[in-house]
Amino acid sequence: MKELKILAIIAALVGITYYGIEPYAHHIMHPEVKPADFAFSDMKNVDTSLAGNVDNGKVLVEANCIACHSIEKAGHLQIMPNADAAAAYGVVPPDLSSAGRIYDKNYLANFIFDPVSAMHLSHKYPVGGAKAFPMPSYNWMSAQEIMDVVAYLESVSPKVSGKDAHKATYDAACGRCHSMSYAKSEATTPKDAIKAYMGATPPDLSQYIKSRQEHYLHGFINDPQLLLAGTSMPRVGLTEKAQEEVIAYMEETGDSKKAERESLGLWVMLYTFVFAILAYLWKRKIWSEVH
Ligand code: HEC
Ligand code: HEC
Repeated sequence: MKELKILAIIAALVGITYYGIEPYAHHIMHPEVKPADFAFSDMKNVDTSLAGNVDNGKVLVEANCIACHSIEKAGHLQIMPNADAAAAYGVVPPDLSSAGRIYDKNYLANFIFDPVSAMHLSHKYPVGGAKAFPMPSYNWMSAQEIMDVVAYLESVSPKVSGKDAHKATYDAACGRCHSMSYAKSEATTPKDAIKAYMGATPPDLSQYIKSRQEHYLHGFINDPQLLLAGTSMPRVGLTEKAQEEVIAYMEETGDSKKAERESLGLWVMLYTFVFAILAYLWKRKIWSEVH
């Protein structure tokens, strides 16, 4: 009878822990948020159905963008060292070689039209506020001209795949702010400058695939404000594919043994199963002598 009572108490405690605490912890670690929106459907300033003209886009980009941005794949090299660019703009403007490949077209067009609202940074750069975002709005361009710029950026983006694409996407989308020491990659913007610009030091991303995990990153990169309201990290506007490339890069760097670990797991389970059978047979043998 006593044993049954003890069993009932243990069962009750386990039940409370499982049904009371586990879902609560799960809810804290994986908060319910709107699913990632890769159509960037809140952005509607530019009519993205217009077909862009690459030649006109080239003229517009050369007149408007390469004073700040390099586009190495199109032969436009960086015009000043990183430290000087950071001093001038607060953050080193990213190289735009991959822009046409990694950013969603609707996001990119609307970003050019109005960078602050596309990045969801209106809380940091309110209209008429003291601080101005370093990249101007090209809201004076017609929708056609913006789509020409987008078409040109798409035309110069090199076709890459596999691990090269993972790294290239990370470098272009995250590398101006974040370091990843496990990949020996240093943010292009010097440490002090990026802290002053963002108001917080962007963390080293080497271990975030483990500490935050894929599920969180999938939502966070698509729209940081949904998971970290008020954060200064911008929405970067990656396509779903490009975002998967970034997460793959974080996994290759921070959790390179994942596949090996998961395949080993099956063998470990098989081992414990076989071991349990042997232990049971052994127990029967020993006790058969005692009785
Ligand atoms: C006065 C300098 C300046 C000019 C001119 C400029 N940019 Fe930028 N751009 C920046 C800076 C600085 C950033 C990074 C801002 C940040 O991360 O907070 C940026 C970021 C970007 C990004 C990254 C967006 C993202 O979601 O991460 C793209 C794409 C871009 N610019 C395209 C363009 C295009 C296209 C033009 C020309 C039509 C242009 N820029 C003109 C300074 C400039
Ligand atoms: C313009 C600079 C900038 C860019 C570009 C940027 N980040 Fe961030 N990121 C930040 C800052 C600043 C923080 C710290 C935010 C805070 O603490 O509020 C941050 C935080 C993070 C975090 C931590 C979130 C958490 O829950 O603590 C992750 C993960 C992250 N960034 C991933 C990325 C990835 C992946 C990219 C590229 C796709 C990227 N970031 C691009 C500035 C940036």
